[in-house]
Amino acid sequence: MKEVTLNNGIVMPAVGYGTWQNRNGEGAVESVKEALKAGYTHIDTAACYHNEESVGEAIRQAIDEGIITRENLFLTTKVWNPDRGYESTLKAFNASITRLGVDYVDLYLIHWPANAKQFDNWEQINLDTWKAMTELYKAGKIRAIGVSNFKPHHLKALMETEVKPAVNQIEYHPGNLQEDIVTFCQDNDILVEAWSPLGTGRVLGDERLQAIAARYNKSVAQLCVRFALQNGVVPLPKSVTPSRIVENLNVFDFEIAEDDMADIRNMAPFGGSGLDADEVDF
Ligand code: A2P
Repeated sequence: MKEVTLNNGIVMPAVGYGTWQNRNGEGAVESVKEALKAGYTHIDTAACYHNEESVGEAIRQAIDEGIITRENLFLTTKVWNPDRGYESTLKAFNASITRLGVDYVDLYLIHWPANAKQFDNWEQINLDTWKAMTELYKAGKIRAIGVSNFKPHHLKALMETEVKPAVNQIEYHPGNLQEDIVTFCQDNDILVEAWSPLGTGRVLGDERLQAIAARYNKSVAQLCVRFALQNGVVPLPKSVTPSRIVENLNVFDFEIAEDDMADIRNMAPFGGSGLDADEVDF
């Protein structure tokens, strides 16, 4: 359970460290380094998080100090919305690896689909972005390519191209399971990753989750991380707090029983961000 294999054979550590809302600067370098020290070997960033320089700096320091090697690290970044399209994706990718100070990334994602609300030719835009990513993949600059926040109707055209998406990273946590997307992806061998696996902290005070977590002597955060794993979803919890960084990875010594899994699965919607890929205007 500590690793998953993507549809192109690439192995990904099953819990990643998320870095959203952790901007460039000393704090970001320190917390990413803290995560690497704690044993995370999977770091998720994005051009729009404005922290690729700090993530890169933390990785360099950790390599220099013998904490990790580049080969043992799984590094993800994403192309931001204004950079969609063929030429601009190629440029955006080069800018990302320059900021990160690496010569390849393990996973590169389209951050959000172009949608019909904003573009008549939304499907073509996504295909053009994908074409650039496919070329970078074939050139060995990216080990796996995927998407984020895509619904099945956004995914379909990409799935008919030469290289189909390996990953779809979506919002996923108790109270917001997006089961239609997860089922579609899992049926089509596309690995689902969870952003905001703790509901950006919003689900941590839920009394029902607290009661379940207490039965395992675990925190609600650990319950959420483990819940994603047991559903075949790769969680990307984020924290800037050293003790929580450690806590969120300490999820391999318990198993949520099926009736508790079902109780969590059956919770009515709560704690979601409300972001909808067909409705967003960014
Ligand atoms: P902080 O970074 O101050 O530690 P998500 O991963 O769903 O986006 O949630 C991130 C939020 O949850 C952050 O506000 C983070 O706070 C908080 N958080 C992360 N891990 C824990 C934890 N183990 N216990 C309590 N809060 C946590």
